[in-house]
Amino acid sequence: MIDKKIPVILDGDPGHDDAIAWVLAAVEEKLDILAVTSVSGNQTIEKTTLNASKILTLIERPLPLARGAARPLFAEPMVAPSVHGKTGLDGPALPEPKVPVLEKGAVTLMAETLEAHPEAVTIIATGPLTNVALLLLTYPELKEKIAAIYFMGGGIRHGNWTPAAEFNILVDPEAAKIVLESGLTLVMCGLDVTERALIMPSEFDEIEALGSEVAKIVAGWLRFFYEFHAAKGYTGAPLHDAVAVAALTAPELLDFKALSVEVELTGDYCRGATVADWYGLFGKAPNVKVAMGIDRDKFFSWIKSHLEKYGRSA
Ligand code: RIB
Ligand code: CA
Repeated sequence: MIDKKIPVILDGDPGHDDAIAWVLAAVEEKLDILAVTSVSGNQTIEKTTLNASKILTLIERPLPLARGAARPLFAEPMVAPSVHGKTGLDGPALPEPKVPVLEKGAVTLMAETLEAHPEAVTIIATGPLTNVALLLLTYPELKEKIAAIYFMGGGIRHGNWTPAAEFNILVDPEAAKIVLESGLTLVMCGLDVTERALIMPSEFDEIEALGSEVAKIVAGWLRFFYEFHAAKGYTGAPLHDAVAVAALTAPELLDFKALSVEVELTGDYCRGATVADWYGLFGKAPNVKVAMGIDRDKFFSWIKSHLEKYGRSA
């Protein structure tokens, strides 16, 4: 029995792994999803917003949905069609989008949601941090209504879009810096943990065999998402964004380390790198709880147990 649900806002750039993260969050009994916001990243804001509506339609969650930043704060926009395809969510056919996109923008929806909720709200960010940074810049007085920010981004040992930088951070490093320096409770699910959160090709079939329409589509998303990664030598699909949901709702699956983390904004080779002071050499207090490890098998069981809640096909 859940004594108290965690109120959350989902912010992301769907994106296959964002989509699966949202599908899992929607049936996570510990969560009360108050709002969903799109951000440009994996694809343009038009496409990630359309995908967000399709995902919410698929899972029958007519949640408040608002369109976010069309570009990073300063950086030139970049998208990732090589990973997520032309639509940003290539692969299985999806239902026509029926969940309306609100007139108001993502930052306004986030602010109104924070203001209206009686308790502090947790933000689960699985794309570039542009919306979150704009929220902090525009409504600093609402920081006290943010319980924590759980974000997928960064990597203290390596990158995946450049040798030093992970995609979400690299798209908008200035936004990441604003979040990292916010003083808020931050939990970072970077590549150190998410590249261990691999779903194996044989497990795509296991998911499909669950039988529901949602499970079959998730399996299709995994197959598409794995194509890019297989070509890079991954043995499975790294379900990056779902780790951020697990970090909040099943932290026992992960190992964490409190670290002082900065983001590099300059440099020909290292812009967007999340630099963790592992030995405290700069003498700065930790500002982030960084997920470093995961029990992969338990993570997969956690995924399956959530997908089973979508029932079986008729
Ligand atoms: O680097 C992985 C991250 O970039 C994930 O959030 C994926 O969806 C892309 O946004
Ligand atoms: Ca994402």
